[in-house]
Amino acid sequence: MKPGGTIRIRLDIGGGSGTFAARMRERNVTIGTTSMNLDGPFNSFIASRGLISMHVSVSQRLPFFENTLDIVHSMHVLSNWIPDAMLEFTLYDIYRVLRPRGLFWLDHFFCLGSQLNETYVPMMDRIGFKKLRWNAGMKLDHGIQKNECYFSVLLEKPMT
Ligand SMILES: C[S@@+](CC[C@H](N)C(=O)[O-])C[C@H]1O[C@@H](n2cnc3c(N)ncnc32)[C@H](O)[C@@H]1O
Repeated sequence: MKPGGTIRIRLDIGGGSGTFAARMRERNVTIGTTSMNLDGPFNSFIASRGLISMHVSVSQRLPFFENTLDIVHSMHVLSNWIPDAMLEFTLYDIYRVLRPRGLFWLDHFFCLGSQLNETYVPMMDRIGFKKLRWNAGMKLDHGIQKNECYFSVLLEKPMT
């Protein structure tokens, strides 16, 4: 989606043991990873891989200046377990730290099918991102009767 060499600094929110950052380091992209030590020493593990480990919760303001990151990625973390007001705050904070034309790759957000159009599409629209890609599908691990879905989006912060 972007010319080679223009994605250099990035952040992975809720990056588990840091594997995404490890894979991207092979492509000369520096990634900070936020994680929590829930049920295990994830932050120490990330650091032991020579990666930047940040013990930062999704409820905290991100420790970056405005308009500085090329891309923020988050997979299987930001989802409907987060209260709406807090999630919206988090999304605005991601918007704040991204540089103009920076990308927000929100991967595998899960929610009820009914919440997608009622809550999350309007919330994404309010933040001000431009939608580059949007994909939704059924989440089936709790059975089809739960009517759960995943969506993944690639969003861009506009120039103005
Ligand atoms: C299901 S794992 C996903 C890991 C990785 N992104 C992946 O897809 O393999 C959830 C991650 O979110 C982090 N996490 C859980 N609760 C959190 C919170 N309140 N604030 C920030 N991160 C949290 C966990 O530490 C873990 O890194």
